[in-house]
Amino acid sequence: MSRIHMVSIAGLLCFLLSSAASAADNKVDYQAELQPAPAGKAEFQPPREETIPNNEFGKMVKYGEKLFTDTQTLRGKYVGNNLNCVNCHLDRGRLADAAPMWAAYVYYPAYRKKNDMVNTLGERIQGCFRYSMNGKPPAVNSDIIKAMETYFFWLAKGAPVGENMKGRGYPKLEKPAASPDIARGKQVFKNNCAVCHGANGQGQMAEGKVVFPPLWGKDSYNWGAGMHRVSTAAAFIKANMPLSKPNSLSLQEAWDVAAFINSRERPQDPRYNGNFKETKAKYHKSDYYGEKVDGRILGEHAYPNPLK
Ligand code: HEC
Ligand code: HEC
Repeated sequence: MSRIHMVSIAGLLCFLLSSAASAADNKVDYQAELQPAPAGKAEFQPPREETIPNNEFGKMVKYGEKLFTDTQTLRGKYVGNNLNCVNCHLDRGRLADAAPMWAAYVYYPAYRKKNDMVNTLGERIQGCFRYSMNGKPPAVNSDIIKAMETYFFWLAKGAPVGENMKGRGYPKLEKPAASPDIARGKQVFKNNCAVCHGANGQGQMAEGKVVFPPLWGKDSYNWGAGMHRVSTAAAFIKANMPLSKPNSLSLQEAWDVAAFINSRERPQDPRYNGNFKETKAKYHKSDYYGEKVDGRILGEHAYPNPLK
């Protein structure tokens, strides 16, 4: 599909009409669910690590890669939790079906219905800083975002521009036979996940480094992040978890455990405006935010963003 195609004429018109208003609103939802990628096996292979050139460009590529894999170097300034980009975009952002960065690079800028505007790649990266990293996004023209874009540019070498490529995003997962169940999910978690992610989903540290990332709690992704959607988490988990045993869970187990981890408390949705009911109605119609689970209304006393 060509880029022109995606930015439909109607969408473009809406964009032109609303761009003035949207530009003023930096709280737009960049985390809207992605358009599904075309089905099938990804054919694209990003270049090998050793082929990063030994020049100024190569330095920027390596800096971007370093930020992507060790995002904790930005902790306290732009990152507010224990995660690194690579925890969800696996294999340094190379792995097909784990939202690889080569597929993202050629997809943006893209018109997104949800916020009714064209999102640049830089803005999309900012979205993951704001929600997945529970942080405060660096400016689009900062060295940090530029270095990450340079790394993704290099990963996408030879990929067709403006395509919605096979392998992009997390593959959509069919619905389970029974609706996702928190109690069953808790058992799946105990049996398959707690050994690495900790009994309370808090993850594990070794020598001051996060070795297993947290799944909920104050140091995990916040209530606005894409991963907080049960469908997105189920898709990620089925294809990638337990680590080194992909696709070992049944379809039902993947949905159940996704429901379990996403019905635990986590950092507040940054779009929360002080009015809990309004935030629930506007952004959380079909998730556990605002639901009573284990005697507690989720989201009402969510963890604060430490960088605010
Ligand atoms: C907690 C998991 C998580 C972390 C950590 C995370 N992301 Fe994401 N990211 C996602 C999810 C989930 C999506 C897809 C959202 C969807 O399906 O709606 C996404 C989408 C993206 C996209 C768009 C992909 C596409 O094909 O459209 C980019 C670019 C991106 N992330 C960059 C980053 C960067 C850079 C970081 C680190 C600063 C980061 N992400 C950290 C979960 C994460
Ligand atoms: C053998 C250890 C191990 C097991 C078992 C395991 N994981 Fe993970 N998990 C990891 C590691 C390591 C990462 C980060 C991957 C990376 O950075 O390459 C991760 C990442 C994740 C993420 C994205 C990052 C985050 O913190 O939100 C989710 C969600 C997740 N795992 C869920 C699960 C679930 C659910 C299970 C059980 C079905 C599970 N994992 C089992 C090691 C494990």
